[in-house]
Amino acid sequence: MNDFTAAILHWYARHGRELPWRGIGDPYGIWLSEVILQQTRVEQGRAYWERFMSRFPTVEDLAAATADEVMRLWQGLGYYSRARNLHAAAQQIAQLGEFPHTIEGIKSLRGVGDYTAAAIGSMAFGLQVAAVDGNVYRVLSRHYGIDTPINTTRGKQEFSALAQSLLPTGRAGDFNQAMMDFGATQCTPSSPQCDTCPVAITCEARRSNRIAALPVKEHKVQVKQRHMTIVYVTCEGYTAIKQRGAGDIWQGLWQPVVTTDDGVPSSDKFPLSLADITTAGATLTMLAHNVKHVLTHRIIMANFYLLRCTSRPTLPEDYQWIAEGDLDRYAMPRLITRLLEMLP
Ligand code: ADE
Repeated sequence: MNDFTAAILHWYARHGRELPWRGIGDPYGIWLSEVILQQTRVEQGRAYWERFMSRFPTVEDLAAATADEVMRLWQGLGYYSRARNLHAAAQQIAQLGEFPHTIEGIKSLRGVGDYTAAAIGSMAFGLQVAAVDGNVYRVLSRHYGIDTPINTTRGKQEFSALAQSLLPTGRAGDFNQAMMDFGATQCTPSSPQCDTCPVAITCEARRSNRIAALPVKEHKVQVKQRHMTIVYVTCEGYTAIKQRGAGDIWQGLWQPVVTTDDGVPSSDKFPLSLADITTAGATLTMLAHNVKHVLTHRIIMANFYLLRCTSRPTLPEDYQWIAEGDLDRYAMPRLITRLLEMLP
């Protein structure tokens, strides 16, 4: 076994994190942990994983759930297409009658790419495949002093091949997880613990003083900025919401009245002008101005309003009145729950 591999496995035996999905051998639980951990850090992800596993102990339970319930359990993690894929993949597995146990089979599941398939394959089925996540890129680029950009095809190939060559026979799952933990707790992005690092002596980044410069990423296009104005209407204990249609990352989630989407008046435009609101005896209060909400491909700048009405105005198409006490039955994007938290 390569010295680096041996040192990492030795480190893992002493410092690896105890996580509830480790050593369970259940591909469903392992897959679920991987999907959640693509979205959040281990500390927060653990609570989500436990909630999912207690509500849906088996993949058949998840497959039989309603989309709304899956969304509600996922709420707060963001990137809701992942939750939709999770649900669809559970139904694929239920149809198959067993969890697929080859890399190709695992990759045929909705939302499962190279990394996740390798993680599940190695941890649940003992397949000899390297799972290369952000931690692995960082550890390898530093230790071997590789400056190929990690977000290019060439970089991906180079790092995958290196990781694959380092796999210990029969212990790929342990090695993959060891690398993740090592990257997450020892060889961290901004303050690596080199003083206590078991492979510091052979670390090329340390020798050549390039720790902060590695790994290298090629510049990405700038994320787009959007504007949204969101109005929470309250009237006799009721509020107006609608379910978002197909076409974006919030598909299927619920929202209050949105008057401006993308900086242009949208079909969502609330029918009341300010004058109408005044004559209807309503009051409009600004809750927050320019709330910055960062998503993967956009930054949303949102204004939040509270509209108090004394009688229920006619709603635009697709909106409906619901009792305010029932709000928590509707899955909403994090941006919307931020508004709800600001309500007096
Ligand atoms: N990140 C994603 N999967 C992980 C795992 N199995 N262990 C630690 N960190 C992870």
